[in-house]
Amino acid sequence: MTHTPRVLSGVQPSGALHLGNYLGALKKFVDLQATHDCFLFVADLHAITVWQEPARLADQTREIAAAYLAAGLDPARATLFPQSAVRTHAELAWVFNCVARLGWLDRMTQFKEKSGKHKERSSVGLYTYPVLQAADILAYRATHVPVGEDQKQHLELSRDIAQKFNTDFEAPDFFPLPEPLIQGPGARVMSLRDGSAKMSKSDPSDQSRINLTDTADEIAGKIRRAKTDAEPLPDDPDALTGRPEANNLVGIYAALSGETKAEALVRFAGQGFGAFKPALAEVVVAAMTPVGEAMRRYLSDPAEIDRVLSDGAERAAAVAEPILAEVKAKVGFWGAAAKMSQT
Ligand code: AMP
Ligand code: TRP
Repeated sequence: MTHTPRVLSGVQPSGALHLGNYLGALKKFVDLQATHDCFLFVADLHAITVWQEPARLADQTREIAAAYLAAGLDPARATLFPQSAVRTHAELAWVFNCVARLGWLDRMTQFKEKSGKHKERSSVGLYTYPVLQAADILAYRATHVPVGEDQKQHLELSRDIAQKFNTDFEAPDFFPLPEPLIQGPGARVMSLRDGSAKMSKSDPSDQSRINLTDTADEIAGKIRRAKTDAEPLPDDPDALTGRPEANNLVGIYAALSGETKAEALVRFAGQGFGAFKPALAEVVVAAMTPVGEAMRRYLSDPAEIDRVLSDGAERAAAVAEPILAEVKAKVGFWGAAAKMSQT
């Protein structure tokens, strides 16, 4: 059996979105909705693996929904919903907790980074986070998952879980083996202060990232102050190896102008950052400020966002529930097979 192509991805409501989220995730979703059946959600179950202020969480969820819409997502075409509003995710995650092996999770580098020196004080949820991610994907039998480079290992785990479920329950092809969609120069946007660290919501320095809601002046200022080196720009992208800051800025320029790094370098080879930075600022301001403005517009009408989210949750549940019913029958839970034969 070949599975119908279906795209799924999620973004956590755990802080302001930045250029990395936009290029690694949001922009790709919008490009895919024209050709694919897309399920896109706000990962609030994932967000609570670290403490979230209860009084803020619903608004943070609306903010991410507004960012999806501002980036151009059409809720009539793509299904946009909050993860916690579709209970299938949590229920399937439990079954997958019993399929995944401890050894597989022990290898996850993101847990090591996020738990830091205090592993024993992390939530159990932070450890099994990638198992929930596999449930998010496979609850819809999604085949393609657009994400940034940092999610590659989690996607590999999802494939391992799908494969082991199919083997354990003698159901070859029951779940597809989901493919990550990671390509392109925006897959790993780095910090503006340190070219070896990824641009991140959790970086304490706001100067390290361009937020979706930054003004044109803030964007231009952050780019002006961005760390660089003293060399002029080369004409060959390979010569950017070993120059992480220069490589990052050229990558951002290329991703936003829709060119390859080589094409962008044709115009800047031999020039220094004094010439390149203003051109980069212009491209970033042109791409990002309309998104920020649209986001503010959507946020001024939270009732409309809520309507989109509850409609999306209903549509998502209608797809995921029958798949979960099949899973329960495969596992052998009481009453599940009888329920299946009634439908
Ligand atoms: P998160 O902010 O961790 O919920 O990530 C949401 C999406 O943005 C995921 O697909 C990430 O892979 C992507 N992402 C996060 N940070 C970056 C970055 N610095 N560069 C590219 N993609 C990113
Ligand atoms: N873990 C992803 C991140 O932090 C968010 C996410 C949750 C996700 N579930 C997912 C991404 C399913 C893709 C598919 O970026």
